[in-house]
Amino acid sequence: MEYGRFNEDERDREVGNIAAGIQMESELGFGYFGDLGDLEGYLHFNLSNKFSRKGYQASLGIVILPTMQGTGIGTQLMQFGLKEMKRLGYKKIWLHVHGWNERAKKLYLRFGFKVEGVFEKDEFFDGKLTDTLSMARFL
Ligand SMILES: CC(C)(COP(=O)(O)OP(=O)(O)OC[C@H]1O[C@@H](n2cnc3c(N)ncnc32)[C@H](O)[C@@H]1OP(=O)(O)O)[C@@H](O)C(=O)NCCC(=O)NCCS
Repeated sequence: MEYGRFNEDERDREVGNIAAGIQMESELGFGYFGDLGDLEGYLHFNLSNKFSRKGYQASLGIVILPTMQGTGIGTQLMQFGLKEMKRLGYKKIWLHVHGWNERAKKLYLRFGFKVEGVFEKDEFFDGKLTDTLSMARFL
């Protein structure tokens, strides 16, 4: 994704710095906007087809502007987004994270995600084969 501004009509509902309900096809996004209105963080859920057998699940992705990482934006977006997904009736949220991504793993563990499986030697990172973790939590 690109960092930038959302149009006003793309903001369904605002709570503090968080604009909720940025809906794009099967993706539901939550943007964190700084005081100047610039997008500083983005949390999104890829929604399963409601009528499929996995209709109660969604997958999660999150990215914070590099200069703003470690300032609590990820935590705020996670708190808000998971609550919203529960309100919308979703029961299970899952994600994939690189084994080396300590900051992201720490965030997910703190929010109750558990490792469901490990894809061993899944992809090259810095010239080495690294694992990918599959994590999930129930709402
Ligand atoms: C991972 C990411 C989403 C976390 O968001 P964030 O806004 O930086 O996180 P927060 O500021 O809310 O802090 C999360 C925790 O990580 C801790 N942390 C900060 N730097 C860390 C580091 N280098 N190693 C381990 N933990 C670290 C913070 O102290 C905080 O822990 P605490 O609750 O004990 O205080 C964000 O750093 C990011 O966008 N990273 C790059 C993209 C990415 O990796 N996305 C996830 C892909 S699966």
